[in-house]
Amino acid sequence: DESSSWRVPSLVQELAATVREPPPRYLVPEQDRRGDQLAGAEMPEPVPTVSLRRLLASDDGAAEEASKLRSALQSWGFFLVTDHGVEASLMDAVMAASREFFREPLEEKQAYSNLVKGRQWQLEGYGNDPVKTQDQILDWSDRLHLRVEPEDERSLELWPGHPERFRGLLHEYTLSCRRVKDGVLRAMARLLDLDDDGGIIEQFGDNKGATYDRFNYYPACPRPDLVLGIRPHSDVCVLTLLLMDDHVAGLQVLRDGAWYRVPPPAPVHGHALLVNVGVSLENSNRFELLEDTPTGDCDVSMQIMSNGIFRGPVHRVVTNSEKERVSLAMFYAADLEKEIEPIAQLVDEKRPARYKKIKCRDFVAAHYEHFSKRETVIESLKID
Ligand code: SIN
Ligand code: FE2
Repeated sequence: DESSSWRVPSLVQELAATVREPPPRYLVPEQDRRGDQLAGAEMPEPVPTVSLRRLLASDDGAAEEASKLRSALQSWGFFLVTDHGVEASLMDAVMAASREFFREPLEEKQAYSNLVKGRQWQLEGYGNDPVKTQDQILDWSDRLHLRVEPEDERSLELWPGHPERFRGLLHEYTLSCRRVKDGVLRAMARLLDLDDDGGIIEQFGDNKGATYDRFNYYPACPRPDLVLGIRPHSDVCVLTLLLMDDHVAGLQVLRDGAWYRVPPPAPVHGHALLVNVGVSLENSNRFELLEDTPTGDCDVSMQIMSNGIFRGPVHRVVTNSEKERVSLAMFYAADLEKEIEPIAQLVDEKRPARYKKIKCRDFVAAHYEHFSKRETVIESLKID
């Protein structure tokens, strides 16, 4: 039918190889790219960095590291985690295999397409985000989206068979990242003074949650001043572990209305992972929100669970004209069949529940529905 032509966008990699200017569908609205708005500003301080090994140690160093974590979450809403225990060689191998996948011929990649029968969009697979309206602005990136946990719910037919080591490496990388995620969540629960982690680990650890790995591919763009690799958003999950290209910049984070460039990890923190989940946490009283939170509201399940204390940073990705960029985002979501709701210990008379509960599966589905319209689900869950 007539809508099918605009609903199925080009793969940006193919486009980048053939066009000299990004087509109109990719252009950011004029007012958002006037001057050098997309360039972003330099961060006024180094990226917050937390050592997971120190954080989880049982000596004085741990308290010091926890205070670094708290200030990172209060200021920027994200941080680099070092000493995370994931082998550098494994990270390099996963990155290399991902690059190789994106370099495979189109027909090979299309075997894992996220368009069922060539047109009906599904979350998993290779392709782009869903296109809902004809005037939706498209991102300058392709991606491969795979559910990696629980293990018995993998759609292995969508896992690339080339390069051959891809599947094995992704499995190994998933196991390593799981330990990092559990460690970081535990440290966050401690910051909130929750007994028994407030059920956070129980609900999201132990393989019960859903984990998605999103492989982002940003081809070099002849006009980085006109397009975005990924439009502004927050991650719809509890926590994201981002493995970035060690050398190619692209990620930007919003703070107090301004965009800041997050430098690539190398050379200082090569092989660090970036943790994405914002927090607005008053030192003296965990129920009191800071006025100038780094972000607005966004669809972050941790925001609901923490009853508004944790928030997710808004971020975007810009392109450059020289180099392609690859990143791998591990998204940790709650068990899709469970309901997300404010943790009981964080609700009391002084701070009643601020959000209605919602089934995780519905939350994720609604998020994708709203995202393309630049709206949030969380707005509709608010209790006044
Ligand atoms: C993302 O926001 O999912 C990707 C971030 C990045 O590529 O750095
Ligand atoms: Fe993201």
